[in-house]
Amino acid sequence: MEIDYEAQAEIYERTRGVESLVYSVLSALLRPRKGDKILDFGCGTGNYLCQFVSDYQIDPYGIEPATQMRLIAQGKLPAQCIRNGDHTHLPFPGLHFDKLYCIDVIHHIRQLNDLFLNLFDAAKPGAKFCICTESPHQLSEKYWIRYFPEILEADLQRFYPIQEIVKSGQAAGWEHCETITTEDELLAAISPNFIARVRHKTCLLYTSPSPRD
Ligand SMILES: C[S@@+](CC[C@H](N)C(=O)[O-])C[C@H]1O[C@@H](n2cnc3c(N)ncnc32)[C@H](O)[C@@H]1O
Repeated sequence: MEIDYEAQAEIYERTRGVESLVYSVLSALLRPRKGDKILDFGCGTGNYLCQFVSDYQIDPYGIEPATQMRLIAQGKLPAQCIRNGDHTHLPFPGLHFDKLYCIDVIHHIRQLNDLFLNLFDAAKPGAKFCICTESPHQLSEKYWIRYFPEILEADLQRFYPIQEIVKSGQAAGWEHCETITTEDELLAAISPNFIARVRHKTCLLYTSPSPRD
């Protein structure tokens, strides 16, 4: 079940925004600072980068392969900082990032090694890299799976076991620091619709060794 982000770009932009809990966890893990060069890999329509610019005055960079998604992101951010690319080709030669992240992207990538190796090369020594995704267990706990079990079958073929992601990152040289699973009790004051979308997230934090050998 592949999603056509070219065709979906407009509807994506209308219906998807920054999810507060994801943004909070990401901010806590990455600790953005003014002037940090931060790469959003698979930035979509650029929502998270815009929020980081607004809150922390970061220096934003985005990679997005879907033209229609990219055009929307380029309309909100400095256009030259949002470029076409993917896990096999990073379009910022010579640039090294302080912080990197990807949100809801990694399940689209079939060659995790390429992703981790290429991002490692683009990271400064001591850089942080955060991956936000969902574990197979979290996918199975979505309330709609009871009514549409075939969705789970399809999702389980696309999403990686968390341990496989951890190992692939380590094999490329990243140090795995921690994995955070969002907790239900954090969401007590949040509306039911919101809970349905964000309660089941897993965020993995890596760092590149500093100093490098
Ligand atoms: C669910 S959207 C998430 C977009 C954005 N990260 C967000 O949270 O709003 C997944 C995005 O990953 C992008 N994507 C798919 N395959 C990719 C790849 N190999 N490299 C980089 N991005 C990819 C898609 O084009 C799409 O914009």
